[in-house]
Amino acid sequence: MAATDTNLQENQGSHESRVFAPSAEFVAKATISGMPAYEKLCAEAAADYEGFWARLARENLDWQKPFTTTLDESDAPFYKWFADGQLNASYNCLDRNLTNGNADKTAIIFEADDGQSTRATYRELHERVCKFANGLRSRGIQKGDRVIIYMSMSIEAVAAMQACARIGATHSVVFGGFSAKSLHERIIDAGAVAVITADEQRRGGKSLPLKAIVDEALALGGCETIRNVIVYQRTGGNIDFTEGLDVWLHELVAKQPAECEPEWVGAEHPLFILYTSGSTGTPKGVQHSTGGYLLWCALTMKWTFDIKPDDVFWCTADIGWVTGHSYITYGPLLVGGTEIVFEGIPTFPNAGRFWDTIAKHKVSIFYTAPTAIRSLIKAADVDPSVHPKNYDLSSLRLLGSVGEPINPEAWMWYYNNVGGGRCPVVDTFWQTETGGHMITPLPGATPMVPGSCTLPLPGIMAAIVDEAGADVANGQGGILVVKRPWPSMIRTIWNNPERFKASYFPDELGGKYYLAGDGAIRNSDTTYFTITGRIDDVLNVSGHRMGTMEIESALVANPLVAEAAVVGRPDETTGESICAFVVLKQARPTGEEAKKLATELRNWVAKEIGPIAKPKEIRFGDNLPKTRSGKIMRRLLRVLAKGETITQDISTLENPAILDQLKEAS
Ligand code: PRX
Repeated sequence: MAATDTNLQENQGSHESRVFAPSAEFVAKATISGMPAYEKLCAEAAADYEGFWARLARENLDWQKPFTTTLDESDAPFYKWFADGQLNASYNCLDRNLTNGNADKTAIIFEADDGQSTRATYRELHERVCKFANGLRSRGIQKGDRVIIYMSMSIEAVAAMQACARIGATHSVVFGGFSAKSLHERIIDAGAVAVITADEQRRGGKSLPLKAIVDEALALGGCETIRNVIVYQRTGGNIDFTEGLDVWLHELVAKQPAECEPEWVGAEHPLFILYTSGSTGTPKGVQHSTGGYLLWCALTMKWTFDIKPDDVFWCTADIGWVTGHSYITYGPLLVGGTEIVFEGIPTFPNAGRFWDTIAKHKVSIFYTAPTAIRSLIKAADVDPSVHPKNYDLSSLRLLGSVGEPINPEAWMWYYNNVGGGRCPVVDTFWQTETGGHMITPLPGATPMVPGSCTLPLPGIMAAIVDEAGADVANGQGGILVVKRPWPSMIRTIWNNPERFKASYFPDELGGKYYLAGDGAIRNSDTTYFTITGRIDDVLNVSGHRMGTMEIESALVANPLVAEAAVVGRPDETTGESICAFVVLKQARPTGEEAKKLATELRNWVAKEIGPIAKPKEIRFGDNLPKTRSGKIMRRLLRVLAKGETITQDISTLENPAILDQLKEAS
């Protein structure tokens, strides 16, 4: 956690002073209407913390068995919420909508890569999920089993997650861009009994393998727990089929009944495990609960997204990330919304795809990542025909941003050119571990400042402290913490409770504060939060979270590599990009040879982890800058990666001459 060798000192937050208040019209209709309404909720939480959450949990979820205890802190930091209550996630998302007038409402509009769209009503989705769930049960999958989902965006992928939830199986979705090795690692760690996948995926007009990668992962060995590989036929492409193990989804569900009794589970039952990167070691299996997590999905759909019955909601994330879990699979369905599930990419068939799709389906709430916005700004500069002004975006009423800091320029472009200056922008700060939004403007209340995620949601006790856990004054940077447990928080790291404690509730901070891993600063006047970036060795490239250690381990696994150090550097489009400093076992390559080896190593990392982890640049050196005790000085490497001159004290450096060598690409 030590913040001395981090970017805490390097970035002290924005000095943005433009303020954009939501329009009177928006405020009038909003669920949380005006700042007094926000403050009233905050006061309710402060006055009776448990009573506040209990009220909301009763109002927002259907309980098969009501809970009688709200928060159990007896085994802190392994907090329990609503623990003696019972419910089912799929029942709350689907069955509820069959009896409240939503049965024939469109639940999902699937927008395929090739531009075709298909729809499913709540009644149809319910039937698909029930058949899927019955199919899983018919193969012996039951409550508590872990099921890996390795699929691209489709109604079937959402149905797969819902079907697991229906029978009480814990799903673990692995992003379709991860390599066989990453998939293998997750299958083993989760001890999964089944994999649900597709023959292939469609992206940008191309077919890419999925089932073949599952085969490759299983062939790596040690996956004996896997007894079923269920395959959704997406493209009809050629795949290998192992009788007995592999089963087609359409065959599995063909004769299944259209009703499936949900498995009622305790509120603390693990709904899912989602792997994410930490600063050390292998990815962590973040374990989420059922009750508290669902409460947060439903609440934030109402609070942050102000969702109304007529809205068409579009979150462009992939279900492989937490954003896709909370704001595609669960949130929109919990509140009976209509949502887009998008298979494609923002630049196919051209960079107007997002705007075209918004116009086509009359999207009213749009939620995407700053990286996408920045790349579409660039694209519209190059080709004015894909500028949002050429599309009818009048259906939009609210915009959201997620996954990384949004720079004020990108915020302004989004606000003016996509939102026409009339749509609030909610810059939502949160993490895989938090389950849902934590610090964000409320669209009908909070005056917005570009680049600031503004204020914590009601009941979220976010604060900024120093390294000893003491509060810092507004205007001073520090470490972002949450002082009280909240319902959708991470419950543990799968298989590793010790790592959970050490990562998120470190003794240095007193063991009671949740450590987010980000630095932040509060504005002295507005008290608004601005996130200043990670304080650990976690990178955020295009909103994808990666540990520098993971990439380093992948590099040193290559037989040519003796040593590697990976750092992030600011990137105009992707927020951050990966720069790797590599020492080879052979002499330091230069010129063409260096280029060739760099390409080879980049492809190697893609194969080891996935294409998202490919370093943008690789520099070769005879050594790395180290202290006399042998510690790599990453702080200096970060300066070199940015192309800046080193002004820091280098007196503790063992080998100062190496810095010149690493200044630029070999
Ligand atoms: O550094 C913060 C950044 O993304 C990290 C969490 O990444 P992940 O668990 O993959 O979840 C991403 C989707 C919620 C955070 O620790 N981050 C996320 N949202 C923002 C952000 N940084 C600044 N502003 C945001 N709105």
